[in-house]
Order: sequence, then C-alpha cells, then structure tokens
Amino acid sequence: MSTAMNHREHSSPPLLSLSGKKVVVVGGKTGIGLGIAHAAYAAGASVTVASRRITSAEERRDLANFEQVTLDICDEAAVRKAFDNIGPFDHLAVTAGPDLGTWGTFMDDDMRGVRSYIENKFLGSWACARYAAPHLRAGGSITFLTGGLAARHKSGFSAVTSAFVAVESLSGSLALELAPTRVNTIRPGYVDTNLWRVMSDNEREALRAKVRESFPARHAGTADDIGHAALFLMTNPYVTGTVIEVSGGENLVPSVF
Ligand SMILES: NC(=O)c1ccc[n+]([C@@H]2O[C@H](COP(=O)([O-])OP(=O)(O)OC[C@H]3O[C@@H](n4cnc5c(N)ncnc54)[C@H](OP(=O)(O)O)[C@@H]3O)[C@@H](O)[C@H]2O)c1
Repeated sequence: MSTAMNHREHSSPPLLSLSGKKVVVVGGKTGIGLGIAHAAYAAGASVTVASRRITSAEERRDLANFEQVTLDICDEAAVRKAFDNIGPFDHLAVTAGPDLGTWGTFMDDDMRGVRSYIENKFLGSWACARYAAPHLRAGGSITFLTGGLAARHKSGFSAVTSAFVAVESLSGSLALELAPTRVNTIRPGYVDTNLWRVMSDNEREALRAKVRESFPARHAGTADDIGHAALFLMTNPYVTGTVIEVSGGENLVPSVF
C-alpha cells in the first residue's frame, strides 16, 4: 500500500471538522468573534453567539445561521443563567471586550477605567469559563482572546496589558485545573474590525496601509485569520495551556499605532 493511500486513510474525517459539535462564541456577533463563528459553522458545528443584545435576521442576514443568546459578561448571574440555558456543548470561545479607549490611563483622577476594563476583559473571560465549564462535553475546549499588548508594553495601555496578561495566565491555570478540557489563548495582532471605528475613515486606511507595509505577512489581519486559528485550537486534541500569536509578525516590527 502506498504512503499516499495511508495518509488519506488517516486524514478521514477531515482534521479541522467540527461536525456534530456545538460551539459557543461570546462576542460572536461582530469582529473577531464573528470570524470564529463563521469558521466553526463552515467546519460543521452548530454555533451559538452571545452578546448584550439580540439582532434581528432582517438587520443582519449573516447571523441567520447562528442561535443568539443575550448575556453581559460583567453580570455574573446573567452569565451563569445563559450557560445553564445553553446546556451541553463542546467548544467555548470568549472574544468579547470593551470598546477602544475605555480603559483610561494610570494617572487618571480615579480608577474607574481600569476597574471597568478588568471587570469586562479579565473577569468577564473568567465568568464565561467558570459557568461554561460544567457544560463542556468530553473533548471540549476553551479559547480566550488577548492581543499583542500582552507582550509589548506601551505607555497609556497599562490596563489593557495587565488584563491581557491576566487572561493568558488564567488560560494556563485552567489548562491544569479543568484538564482534560483544553484551554488556550489566541493573541492577535492588528485585526481589521469595527473595533477601530473610533478612527475616521482616512485614519483607518492610513493604519491599514502602515500594517500592509510593515508587518512581515504584508496584509492587515482579518477576523477570518483568527477564525482559522480558533478552529485549529478547537480541533487539535494535543494543544492546551498555550498562547498562540496570530499577528502577521506584528511582534517583530516597531509599533504602528
Ligand atoms: N481588532 C483588533 O485589532 C484586536 C487586536 C487585539 C486584540 N483584540 C481583542 O479582541 C477583542 C474583540 O475585538 P473585536 O475586534 O472583535 O471587537 P468588536 O467587533 O468590537 O467585538 C466586541 C464584541 O464584544 C461584545 N461585548 C462587548 N462587551 C460585552 C459585554 N459586557 N458582554 C457581552 N458581550 C460584550 C460586543 O457585542 P455587544 O455590543 O452586542 O454586546 C461585540 O460583539 C478586543 O476587546 C480585544 O480584547 C482586538
């Protein structure tokens, strides 16, 4: 028997298949979460997207394939109730996060900015994992989302860096505590989503151009790029407790913003 035939036998079913699996993406109605939801659906999963509001199919036809659930990740009771209602499922991704610029700076008059950022990004990720964990089936996984600031300090971003590092640390701890459920984190670089809507169209185009010019991958990252990485983490049974950088090489070049 040829090597090629053996290889074909071993690769069935497809390595990245989520057929028969149920995936929940918290933050999955927009941006990076939507990229993950699309990737999971395309791989055969049934997909539930959760965020603070339900959006009608007339408003957003691209959400028609997904079940929608409302939850505010800063509201522990709501998170618990949402996962109790969702019931058994296979893979959780938590991509929800605050809008740009809501974190304040270290020398602000008070600590409202950092408190609300940590409450959302860190404790929100914690709450989702905590209340999803009892419902995850055997072979399940949790994927968190941080960003390049976890590994690169930048003046004015102390709250973001601290929250991202905390999430990555939680991810490793949970890989042990929830084993054999696998727990990983994606650390994206710049991703061209509406998170950047605080910038004018011209500013956004200038940023994209800088990214295309300077990042080694020579393109502005897309939500689909991150969806692809999430699919890998959900389907590879030997990856746990790791942080995977999906940044087009942003970590290798000077900051673009
Ligand atoms: N885009 C980038 O370049 C980039 C780079 C590095 C890291 N990141 C990380 O990725 C996260 C998401 O980025 P994105 O580009 O996907 O942004 P996005 O499109 O603005 O997505 C954020 C999502 O989070 C949901 N959300 C926000 N607060 C919530 C809450 N309290 N409870 C439940 N859902 C909540 C929002 O839905 P509702 O408004 O409907 O609740 C929205 O769907 C960021 O916060 C950051 O941590 C992004």
